[in-house]
Amino acid sequence: MRKILIAYFSLQLHTKKVAEKMHDICRGDMFEIKNEIEYPVDFNFLAMIAQKQLENKTFPKLKDVISREAMQQYDVVLLGFPIWWNDLPRTVCTFLKMYDFSNKVIIPFFTHLGTSYGGQSIQTIQALTNGKVASEFAFAVHDDDVDKIDGVLGDWLKKLSEKY
Ligand SMILES: Cc1cc2nc3c(=O)[nH]c(=O)nc-3n(C[C@H](O)[C@H](O)[C@H](O)COP(=O)(O)O)c2cc1C
Repeated sequence: MRKILIAYFSLQLHTKKVAEKMHDICRGDMFEIKNEIEYPVDFNFLAMIAQKQLENKTFPKLKDVISREAMQQYDVVLLGFPIWWNDLPRTVCTFLKMYDFSNKVIIPFFTHLGTSYGGQSIQTIQALTNGKVASEFAFAVHDDDVDKIDGVLGDWLKKLSEKY
């Protein structure tokens, strides 16, 4: 039996909603990736900080972590995040850099406002991990569609379970 972790980062709760819907269907464990220092609520300020972190390739500290030992038990990691500046929020990069993914499959899912192909995010995940990234299964959800995905999500998870 494959052991699944749904690990997600979400500030405005769209990705969190998708992660929770996934959990309703496939169960597994859930982990919220959070920045140690809270990001600002003000969008312009947040956008500026996110851009600076991306430019400087920073690895911001996380609020909570899963121990490396506990992480070893998982075979499949469903990794959720919003697209920020056509890429991965740097907080997610910190999470990826912490663990050995060599015996795992990473399945990315993300929410966005137009960058449906995920920008650079998949390449960034590949560059930071030694695990298999199932980019062909990357699951994209526009903000406006978060409440309408139940059917497609079920089909997607079924296809996933047939392969992984
Ligand atoms: C700092 C920042 C940068 C963003 N950059 C992009 C982008 O490049 N492309 C895009 O489609 N959406 C972009 N968005 C929109 C988010 O990806 C989208 O609203 C997402 O659903 C937010 O996820 P969350 O609610 O889980 O935090 C950006 C949002 C923020 C806050």
